[in-house]
Amino acid sequence: MKSRAKRVLVLGATGTIGRATVDQLVAQGHDVICFVRSRSLSVDRKLRTSLARSELRAIEFRDPLAITKELTAIGRIDAIISCIASRTGMPEDAWAIDYSVNASALSAALEHEIPQMILLSAICVQKPRLEFQKAKLAFENLLIDSGMEFSIVRPTAFFKSLSGQIDRLKRGKPFLLFGNGELTACKPISDTDLAKYLVLCLTSSELKKKVLPIGGPGSAITPKEQGEYLFQKLGKPPRFLHVPVGLFSAISGALSLFGFVSSPIAKEAELAKIGRYYATESMLVLDSDTNQYSEAATPSFGSETLFDYYDDLISGQISLDRGEHAIF
Ligand SMILES: NC(=O)c1ccc[n+]([C@@H]2O[C@H](COP(=O)([O-])OP(=O)(O)OC[C@H]3O[C@@H](n4cnc5c(N)ncnc54)[C@H](OP(=O)(O)O)[C@@H]3O)[C@@H](O)[C@H]2O)c1
Repeated sequence: MKSRAKRVLVLGATGTIGRATVDQLVAQGHDVICFVRSRSLSVDRKLRTSLARSELRAIEFRDPLAITKELTAIGRIDAIISCIASRTGMPEDAWAIDYSVNASALSAALEHEIPQMILLSAICVQKPRLEFQKAKLAFENLLIDSGMEFSIVRPTAFFKSLSGQIDRLKRGKPFLLFGNGELTACKPISDTDLAKYLVLCLTSSELKKKVLPIGGPGSAITPKEQGEYLFQKLGKPPRFLHVPVGLFSAISGALSLFGFVSSPIAKEAELAKIGRYYATESMLVLDSDTNQYSEAATPSFGSETLFDYYDDLISGQISLDRGEHAIF
């Protein structure tokens, strides 16, 4: 493997998928360099352990030329893998990070003749209603039009995003469902499987110059099925609280009116819009002929399942790390 080893720059290496990707790259013998913001270098001890075998360099991401300057200092790079993303999902932050930082990285890559860029995006950009989705999609298009050898990976839901209710259930509270709990479905993918897929994009010619929706193994799972599994594992009788989806519409509609004059309220309105989106849209490939989400059209990769992950969380073998400020 060492002969095919690449020198890879990772952006977003301190995030959930970024860390898993660095682990995979290092395990597969690649040389890894991570550009991270300095505050993350200094505070996160767990991060320093998990990234110890890569080269970490602090960057001032607000400077649009920072990436290109740093690339001049470090010399040849074979590929960039970008897992960087706004932690808040708020419009200004999303355009500053998901679009602008990635655009600076692309421009630096072209200038330094880096031949390949792999982008972690999201399956939800296929139906862009939220500002962060529009920012991601705008960068996807920039990358596609750049002439760079790209892979755009659009995963379905992550395990961490489907595990937020376990503590509620342990405390005897009901599982919250929107509508009947069967309005949406997803094929969850584990951090490790997704990281393996991103790393595979480095070498697999089938994955180059493509937009790649990707889910985990097995059938699509609804929120109701997640709740039923958790109650069974916890040995508790199933209790569901059905929340009407219209609640989100009412909240976001009302807050939007006030959002014109108050930025904290605009933030709440955007959060309500995000909530409504995930309560009503599946994380599966949208069939363009039928305009329906399709489990069959959503490719699967990997071997780790959400329910095995739930087992490990409940038995205490692992703990849930949703990340600082994470909302997705
Ligand atoms: N959650 C899901 O179910 C799901 C499903 C599909 C796709 N996705 C997409 O997958 C992507 C990655 O998700 P994730 O959970 O791995 O993200 P995450 O844990 O929130 O990590 C985000 C990364 O971006 C960096 N970052 C954020 N703001 C920054 C800033 N202002 N300056 C410099 N770096 C910044 C973070 O660095 P710091 O550590 O310094 O903050 C971190 O390394 C996102 O685009 C998300 O939309 C998520």
